[in-house]
Amino acid sequence: MTDHPTIASPEASATPPQPSGDEPAIDSERADAFAAAHPVRPIPAQRPVDTRPICETPSASDFLNPVWKAVVEETRARGNDIHLPISVAYAERLCDAYPTADREVVLVATLLHDTGWAHVDESRILSEGFTGDWRKAQIRYEHEHQGCIVARRVLPGLGYAPEFVERITAIIEGHDTRHVAYSIEDALVRDADRAWRFDRAGIALASSWFGMDPATYADRLAAEIVPELITAAAVEMATADLARSNALLKTGVLR
Ligand SMILES: [Fe+2]
Ligand SMILES: [Fe+2]
Repeated sequence: MTDHPTIASPEASATPPQPSGDEPAIDSERADAFAAAHPVRPIPAQRPVDTRPICETPSASDFLNPVWKAVVEETRARGNDIHLPISVAYAERLCDAYPTADREVVLVATLLHDTGWAHVDESRILSEGFTGDWRKAQIRYEHEHQGCIVARRVLPGLGYAPEFVERITAIIEGHDTRHVAYSIEDALVRDADRAWRFDRAGIALASSWFGMDPATYADRLAAEIVPELITAAAVEMATADLARSNALLKTGVLR
């Protein structure tokens, strides 16, 4: 999950935890290579982008059903049963717009990326994960690490090869705490993880996590999350979604 780093909430702890120093180091070589291969940002779409409301194109990837079934427990944590299916639907659209990306990697990584929230101390999720310098909050490193453990637990039994599992964990590890993308697949997962916020369901859920009213949260999305998007397809979808959500939620009046 990603969002603004400095939003305070009523649950804010006085001193947000700092990284322990055990976090995985950033692979600058990979990050630099990806940046050099994609000098134009946001990365132009390779195909037309579907900007209709996301509920019109729910995930059609039935091959993911065994993976979904394997993590039902994990979807019960921190709104994952809303966040993950919507994010996967966005990930499918992003894969349609960037067909050179490995679709299976993007979709499985998106599905699993936040399952680690189910294996961290729930009381610390809002108190540490959504306040202060949240990107550096220890709970965020922990949910990434636990998500990798979930991936290694469920994927081999479903027939996924070790190399595939490693590609998934490389994306999950650092999906919140790393500032740079390593690959187009990594970039699409990151954008799917952000794109869902612009839908009305994302605004409803995420604004409450941050203790903000919808209008203030929508303003933050426009000012701070749109610029973080890596792909032009995500920017296009987010812009269309935000306009619809602002109109529907009457954020121009309810502020
Ligand atoms: Fe996350
Ligand atoms: Fe997420």
